[in-house]
Amino acid sequence: MFHSKIAGVGHYVPDRVVTNQELTNYMETSDAWIQERTGIKERRFFEEGVDTVSGMAANASKMALEKAGIEIKEIEMIVFATLSPDYAFPGSGVLLQRILGLPGIPALDIRQQCAGFIYAVSVADQFIKSGTYKTILVVGSEIQSNIMEISDRGRNMSVIFGDGAGAVVLQQTSDPDKGILSTHIHADGTFAEELMLEHPGSKRKERFNNEMAAKGELLPVMNGQLVFKHAVQRFPEVIKEALDANRLSTADIDLLIPHQANLRIAEYIQKNLGLRDDQVFNNIQKYGNTTAASIPLALSEAFIEGRIKEGDLICMAAFGSGFVWGSALVRW
Ligand code: UT7
Repeated sequence: MFHSKIAGVGHYVPDRVVTNQELTNYMETSDAWIQERTGIKERRFFEEGVDTVSGMAANASKMALEKAGIEIKEIEMIVFATLSPDYAFPGSGVLLQRILGLPGIPALDIRQQCAGFIYAVSVADQFIKSGTYKTILVVGSEIQSNIMEISDRGRNMSVIFGDGAGAVVLQQTSDPDKGILSTHIHADGTFAEELMLEHPGSKRKERFNNEMAAKGELLPVMNGQLVFKHAVQRFPEVIKEALDANRLSTADIDLLIPHQANLRIAEYIQKNLGLRDDQVFNNIQKYGNTTAASIPLALSEAFIEGRIKEGDLICMAAFGSGFVWGSALVRW
């Protein structure tokens, strides 16, 4: 029986650092409000002509491949999680495939927003378990600074989200003591409109027009308090589901890497599960919420900082727009 291990992890962020203080130039907000409500101190914004979602993904992927000691040509499939593809269509997976020079291999885009990376890992894991592929590149990459309005009108969202990318190389292993133990994915479309970007969707005759732009209808909307309420319920639930499935307990977790949505959400999860500070990794302070990129970006930094050792039990969990949520348990 095969399963997959994380052979390497990498990340990339744009150079431009945008502090909370800088945002106060464009909107009525404060460093104190943002830090108190979200934990965020700064985030990265892309520069047009320098960074693209597929380009950032390629940079993160090359780092992951280097860490894994695997050559680009060994990749047999790309699974790409993003809510902000380079083009409305085709997806960014094919663009990454083109950059990496891998014509012919399948490239699949996953559109599960903040849970996109967990869904992507889950899909890739099934292809490896079935014996179809041995080496799969799983990427999360986002440019969100250009779908927010950096103004009073957009302030409830634009202070939270940032740009960045992260990637892992999943590789087949027959070592029963190592790799992805299980993945658990869920959705509840009841709440689809509570965190969404409606346009340019296909529902209306005109996908977008100046009137929509003037009314602010081309901006994403979020019912922050409702999302928060569901997040703090679903995160512990799906983490416990993963632990139960493997007959493990919270005490067995060496490092929890929650999707970096809001530091207050991560602190709530930590408290709810009774985890110590050293059992949880957060880097939202530096990058804000990078949606599908947040978990691999955090995983990569945790690895570089020496927070992950061979044999550690790593738990990754996410919740976001859809609503969609999920977890993955990994023996490193
Ligand atoms: O990635 C997964 C999806 N997203 C999430 O998980 C996000 C979940 N939700 C949250 O993180 C929080 O709801 C937010 C951080 C988005 C907002 O925090 P909150 O404590 O729920 O604030 P609120 O929306 O209830 O707003 C409180 C006040 C309002 O003013 P009034 O009505 O009390 O006068 C807002 O207008 O804060 C105001 N406000 C701001 N003030 C300064 C909203 N945005 C800002 C801002 N700066 N940027």
